[in-house]
Amino acid sequence: MKTRQRWILLVFMAMAAILLLLMWSGGITKSPSFMTASPISLTLDLDQLSDREKCPACFGVKMCPQIVTGNIKLSDWTKYKVTRYVNQKNIFYGQWDDGIGQRKVILKKLAHDHELDALDSTICERHGKNNNCDVSDSVRYLIDEYAHHSTLRPGEQILHGEKIGNGSDILLCPSIAKMDFLIDAASKFNKGQHAKTILANVLTTILVNPEPILLEAFPSSKGWPFPTFYGACGRIVVEEYVGRPLSSFVDESFKVRAYLALQLLKMANLFYENPTQFILYITDPQADNFAVVENTNIVKLVDLENLMVVDKELLIQSKVKDSDKLAVSESVTCEDQGRYTKECFSYSVDDLCDRPRTDHNYYAVCAGLLAPGLSYDFPQGLLHSIPDEDLNKLSSLPGLLTQCKNPTLGKLDLTRIEAAQQLINVLDSYLEHKK
Ligand SMILES: Nc1ncnc2c1ncn2[C@@H]1O[C@H](COP(=O)(O)OP(=O)(O)O)[C@@H](O)[C@H]1O
Ligand SMILES: [Mg+2]
Repeated sequence: MKTRQRWILLVFMAMAAILLLLMWSGGITKSPSFMTASPISLTLDLDQLSDREKCPACFGVKMCPQIVTGNIKLSDWTKYKVTRYVNQKNIFYGQWDDGIGQRKVILKKLAHDHELDALDSTICERHGKNNNCDVSDSVRYLIDEYAHHSTLRPGEQILHGEKIGNGSDILLCPSIAKMDFLIDAASKFNKGQHAKTILANVLTTILVNPEPILLEAFPSSKGWPFPTFYGACGRIVVEEYVGRPLSSFVDESFKVRAYLALQLLKMANLFYENPTQFILYITDPQADNFAVVENTNIVKLVDLENLMVVDKELLIQSKVKDSDKLAVSESVTCEDQGRYTKECFSYSVDDLCDRPRTDHNYYAVCAGLLAPGLSYDFPQGLLHSIPDEDLNKLSSLPGLLTQCKNPTLGKLDLTRIEAAQQLINVLDSYLEHKK
């Protein structure tokens, strides 16, 4: 076959495959009238995508009116049904007409489809039912059971982490005050809902991905560097679309990258020292998990699934041995698919849960994003290629970066925390001069 013919055949086969997929997902088997009358719906139905009927085994209902009335529409390529099979991440782009203007929003199902199926099975199993049980019934049953438990033991929070057992990372480092704080935030955000419904939503959410509850508890309106959270509808959440991922800023000017780096270091500090009694630990510092607002270049963390939340007060009260000694995070050597060894990001859940003083967030930012070596997106580090004319002004930068990435290899006599704080000062004054 000539190359040209082969191409035509290939294109034809690809089109046929796409058409088959569309017909299949368009419900051809369910709809015998398809051949005669109804056209195939090419776009995804957002209302259907939300799995609203699973509530209260869902993330909430606050945004349902906006979805049902069609004020929120899917935009870009994610609206096409065929992408349902490609878009494994379950992230959709949308446009929200809120009556005042149009906003770009992100719609997330918060987990892969198979993880959401596993969530249903978990809820059914905990109720002692088989896999295909009615999850909305079962989640109600579980909340009643947990509530009964806590009346037997007054003072114990209904959704205390230890009682729930395995779920998402928010259940690591269990603390009654932490659960109280999260449930309180969910109750305020979803005012008007029945208390038990809110508990069922919280339970469902923390079993799969705590992002919406963290966005409610640490809101952008109070200065937290996260997307604004608008609310959930069933198994979909609606958030502010922040902007392009940080990973796409690798070739921006040094000044822009320096500004992004400065914000990341300040974020690391804020997560440790903030007005709440909690420490937030970054455990997945991939550049894709951060996004940057267009025009202002403000950085926000957009994937909160793996944030660890630690109750600082509880740590102080529990008086662990050597509590004033700094726990130093370090990378480990690991194998890449058994082929070669490399340096890998690492953390100790025990240290983060038990030690009041750690340098972990600075490690995550310096080693995971700013310095060369560890990051997949930034092999040269975000702060690569200092311009010649700034080399003098920034002469201390490479040394401080190395020290912050790995204080035992660095040549300066500084802890990681000291190095990170000096980095903040150096970048701050560099950007001040560049204004
Ligand atoms: N609020 C948001 N604003 C802009 N982009 C986002 C937002 N949330 C997610 N994204 C983009 O979608 C990608 C996947 O979302 P994420 O929450 O990280 O899901 P996953 O658990 O699949 O990593 C992110 O890497 C980011 O590029
Ligand atoms: Mg992610």
